[in-house]
Amino acid sequence: MSVIEAIRWSEDGRAVRILDQRRLPGAEVYRELRTVAEVRDAIATLAVRGAPAIGIAGAMGMVIAIDEAMRDGIDPMSHLRVAHEIIRAARPTAVNLAWAVDRVMDIATGAAATGGDLRSALCAAATRILEEDRAMCRRIGEHGAALIPDGANVITHCNAGALATGGIGTALAAIYVAVEQGKRVSVFADETRPLLQGSRLTAWELERAGIPVTVLVDSAAASLMRERKIDLCIVGADRIAENGDVANKVGTFPLALAAKHHGVPFYVAAPTSTLDPATKSGERIHIEQRGKTEVTSGFETPTAPDRVAVYNPAFDVTPADLIDAIITDQGLYRAPYHFAATT
Ligand code: MRU
Repeated sequence: MSVIEAIRWSEDGRAVRILDQRRLPGAEVYRELRTVAEVRDAIATLAVRGAPAIGIAGAMGMVIAIDEAMRDGIDPMSHLRVAHEIIRAARPTAVNLAWAVDRVMDIATGAAATGGDLRSALCAAATRILEEDRAMCRRIGEHGAALIPDGANVITHCNAGALATGGIGTALAAIYVAVEQGKRVSVFADETRPLLQGSRLTAWELERAGIPVTVLVDSAAASLMRERKIDLCIVGADRIAENGDVANKVGTFPLALAAKHHGVPFYVAAPTSTLDPATKSGERIHIEQRGKTEVTSGFETPTAPDRVAVYNPAFDVTPADLIDAIITDQGLYRAPYHFAATT
């Protein structure tokens, strides 16, 4: 399987190198982000996307902030505080972004207090976040593969693959490891309106890995289940509350409802960096609302009248009681979920 590196340091170690996901599947274009504004914009416009990957990008962006301060002759700690706020606010729902930039900011505060080398400390911290994510993806894959029988037809939503992480993905990691183990797995990928992460990204990376994949419009998933063509669902997560409620790409909740109705197991896969024990339940999760043009003229084609009102939440919340298991790098969790107590 050829490995996709959605995010890493550039060769000179002074930029964040990303695969620009806005261009897929048409073109495989890599970009080097050299300013805090470029990092922020890449996160906000989904050039880099997926909860773990935006956390990694945010952490690396903090190192870019130090370089920027040096270049412009400004105080590194004050510039870092500004960069921390700017990057943290780029997308609100995935907890990984806030978790990663807060972790780097804490290290910066410690290094500044002890007079240590700020850049080296932050660079090591950001690199550690990337490497830890890679290792967590592998472990999620190993735990998740145990849930996938030979010959399974699996449905997934959005993209929770290598493109969304520093490693082999979360939901797709389970599929990759099952295939490595010699199991035959076929994937149904919801296209994932309105930005089509399923058809543009999941289908692209699975096809590249040689795994059979069929794209369907989101609203066809329930019919597929009724026809008994789906054995299980696996999706990723952007934030998991203490009680196991899961925020993930909008459309996950209806998929889980359809799965419950048809008796199809519904699994969520995520690293422990996506757990948010401080948020007690899903109704407290801030759901990002995105611009109307994603719906009225997505991909520059008019698909609704210009002036029509649009409801465009980027995520929804799947209640814990619709989830058969949450697969993390630390193992499988089943209801009742109490993440504060278990992690
Ligand atoms: O808006 P996106 O494309 O960043 O949304 C991504 C998702 O919802 C993924 O399912 C989630 O981040 C898990 S990624 C391993």
